[in-house]
Amino acid sequence: WRPWLCHLFVAVWATEGVTALYGEIIVVPCNSGATAPEDLMFVKWKYEKDDSTAGDLLIKQARNDQTTVQATDDYAERVSIDDNFSLHITKASLKDQKTFTCMVVSGSNLTEYPVSVAVYKKPSSVQIMDKSEVLQKDKATTVGTCVATDANPTATITWKKNGKLLVADGKAVVITPSLKLDPATGLSTTSSTLQYAASKEDAVAVFACVSTHVLSNQETKMEPVPVHYPSEKVSLQIMSKGPIVEGDNVTLKCHADGNPPPSSFYFHIKGQKMLVENSDTYTLAAISREAGGEYKCSLADNEKMEASQSIVVNYMDLSLTPTGKVVKAVGDTLTVTMEKSASGDAQVSWTKNGKVLKEPVFSRLTFADAGLYVCELSMNGLTRHQSFELVVEGKPVITSLTKHRADDANYKVLTCEAEGVPEPNFQWSVNSTDEKSSYTNGKATHKISVIPKENLTVTCSVSNKLGEDIMTINVSSGKFTRVDSLVTVILPVFILYSPISLQICLRGLYNLATKEDPSPWMDRSNICHVYR
Ligand SMILES: *[C@@H]1O[C@H](CO)[C@@H](O)[C@H](O)[C@H]1NC(C)=O
Ligand SMILES: *[C@@H]1O[C@H](CO)[C@@H](O)[C@H](O)[C@H]1NC(C)=O
Ligand SMILES: *[C@@H]1O[C@H](CO)[C@@H](O)[C@H](O)[C@H]1NC(C)=O
Ligand SMILES: *[C@@H]1O[C@H](CO)[C@@H](O)[C@H](O)[C@H]1NC(C)=O
Ligand SMILES: *[C@@H]1O[C@H](CO)[C@@H](O)[C@H](O)[C@H]1NC(C)=O
Ligand SMILES: *[C@@H]1O[C@H](CO)[C@@H](O)[C@H](O)[C@H]1NC(C)=O
Repeated sequence: WRPWLCHLFVAVWATEGVTALYGEIIVVPCNSGATAPEDLMFVKWKYEKDDSTAGDLLIKQARNDQTTVQATDDYAERVSIDDNFSLHITKASLKDQKTFTCMVVSGSNLTEYPVSVAVYKKPSSVQIMDKSEVLQKDKATTVGTCVATDANPTATITWKKNGKLLVADGKAVVITPSLKLDPATGLSTTSSTLQYAASKEDAVAVFACVSTHVLSNQETKMEPVPVHYPSEKVSLQIMSKGPIVEGDNVTLKCHADGNPPPSSFYFHIKGQKMLVENSDTYTLAAISREAGGEYKCSLADNEKMEASQSIVVNYMDLSLTPTGKVVKAVGDTLTVTMEKSASGDAQVSWTKNGKVLKEPVFSRLTFADAGLYVCELSMNGLTRHQSFELVVEGKPVITSLTKHRADDANYKVLTCEAEGVPEPNFQWSVNSTDEKSSYTNGKATHKISVIPKENLTVTCSVSNKLGEDIMTINVSSGKFTRVDSLVTVILPVFILYSPISLQICLRGLYNLATKEDPSPWMDRSNICHVYR
């Protein structure tokens, strides 16, 4: 102290506080920025060194506004004073956290205004390091380490799960904090490691680390992490759309509820243990009826975890005799035998040419028996078919030979009908025009038109490889017709038995005599068979 100052009244004000941001300018106000006394002589700034001695910084004279930097240390380059006598210190660092004193010296007073300076810095980053890729169920697993770097004062770290604060309990939630000071800057780096015993539901949980600091709070979220847990249940599935039928490829699928899903399994197939790796299925190719029974699967790494299923193999056999094309002659017998065996109650049904019928029995085959016979065996939606096509062959037999005069025409139409298989050939004894024929189900019909110039005896002959048949018919040429032999046979009968018949008969005769053509009921009578 200079001797002339000794008689002055010295006052020291209570310490004020200012905070500054790290790296920026610290502004330390003198007497909270109050105006200086009128008789001000000078203002001097000093600071308290670590050893509690005072370090001079600068002096500003009131008289000529002249400033003298007294500091000889690092502050020499960093300090200045403004018009309000506030001390400015550039490049704030933690070393500047000390008390600076403004000494105001006036003619009457010497007053000291100490100001303590704090330098704050928010964390340069808040990050989660060493994030775990997977959590283990019910086992405290490290989730990650949250690091808030280079802060002052020290940042505190807390953890949240789905927005709710996690409180360490030493079991399910273990939080291990740590603090590191940078020896050069004095800044602190806060770390916090979270260990957590997850549940299955935590696979979608969002963990977040919250850094709390006077200057800023920061939250850093983590992507959800899968939770791994061992299988608790194994199930065996038989992959089949419907009942399993002999010959099917049957796939067995083993499923376990662990995460990650197990990739290797044992399949127990009829006493044999098959290891399947990187797959959860085993296929039984073309399963046989003997393969029914119990099947098991288990985890390759924990054989106690197993599941079983039983397989029922349905089968159905149908054997029909005869099958295919069966050619028989009219009058033959045909024995049809059907044998079936099935794993259940199978129904038999028969169709002939698509129409349902009873099981066929043929004691004497007729042409009408020909057709496609299908036997169907069915059970639970399964079906088996066997069939035979029956062909009944026989020499042709003429069933009718008729004539009639076409309306308003001078020709006559002769119709010859015959039954026979294979299809018979028709031959007529007259030249004809306009032939028509049809053949269905062994019945053949042949029609011709003739213009008889004279009374004709017309022959229709039919033949196939098995034989032939012939029939004749008398066709009159003219406008007048004959009394038929049949009439002469029937007439006495009518006369004998009925007076009414007699009347009808007489009327018939009258008709015959007067009309140009005979009545229709008398027209188809002149028939006789010629057998060879
Ligand atoms: C000094 O203080 C006055 C009033 O408080 C203010 O307006 C002015 O900006 C200050 N000057 C400096 C250089 O800080
Ligand atoms: C000196 O300081 C005292 C205490 O702060 C004050 O009461 C007094 O008025 C001051 N004197 C002058 C001349 O400013
Ligand atoms: C069974 O599998 C074999 C081989 O993959 C295949 O050729 C066959 O068609 C399958 N059988 C059935 C009934 O799917
Ligand atoms: C059938 O016609 C042919 C030629 O047109 C003729 O030669 C033949 O005599 C005719 N037969 C009868 C039976 O009329
Ligand atoms: C044809 O037959 C009828 C009787 O059926 C007979 O009356 C007629 O005289 C016959 N005509 C010829 C040309 O023989
Ligand atoms: C057909 O007419 C002839 C004579 O013209 C006769 O001998 C024959 O018996 C007649 N046939 C029939 C079936 O009437």
